[in-house]
Amino acid sequence: MKKFVIAIDGPAGAGKSTVAKLVAKKLGFLYVDTGAMYRALTLKALNEKIPFSEEEKLINMAKNTKIELQDNGVDYKVFLDGKDVSEEIRTEEVSKGTQFIASILQIRKILWKMQRSFRGRYNIVMEGRDIGSKVFPDAQLKIFLDASVKERAKRRYLQLKEMGLEGDLNIIEKEIIERDERDRKRSISPLVRHPDAFYIDTTGMSIPQVVEKIIFLCKNLNPQ
Ligand code: DC
Repeated sequence: MKKFVIAIDGPAGAGKSTVAKLVAKKLGFLYVDTGAMYRALTLKALNEKIPFSEEEKLINMAKNTKIELQDNGVDYKVFLDGKDVSEEIRTEEVSKGTQFIASILQIRKILWKMQRSFRGRYNIVMEGRDIGSKVFPDAQLKIFLDASVKERAKRRYLQLKEMGLEGDLNIIEKEIIERDERDRKRSISPLVRHPDAFYIDTTGMSIPQVVEKIIFLCKNLNPQ
């Protein structure tokens, strides 16, 4: 019997990570952050000083990389070739570099294989851009999480403030629009909404409301 998969896709800043982690915790499912995989490979390329234009070298690097995701229900860790890089993969430099790694088909194929390998072993909540459209088009529950640009910019601004950093709302908004363009317009595996996916606009919704909505949808599907 196939394990249960909840696929959560959507643009940056729609709240996917926060919501996916809480849904996974409540249901006792494993949380899989696919963005962290693209980030880990980007970090390795930066560390090894491989230019983003050198596709062959990057593909070779990806073939020889071990990425592990750890979820013990409290901490979510990312290991790159055995080293904990959970914090390092969140820098601005890595965020900016991911677009190059994410647009190389051979690299995506390597990561798709890793992502699909989770299915036989666990019930999972997998979050990314192409989970419902590409990785698991047959996921039992597909969600497309969205929010207006203004709302996502406001959330990011507040997040930075919480970390003691001062952001500029206009600049954040511009960056979000640019990132959306890149994610939606790239030729390989762009961010698209699968026709079966439930669309949830989280603008004006609280995190618990979104989590409850997804759990309600999941329970109505009667997972094992
Ligand atoms: O969700 P995130 O910001 O951590 O994602 C990091 C980058 O990886 C971002 O550029 C989008 C890309 N990504 C992707 O192309 N496909 C996925 N399934 C997940 C992330």
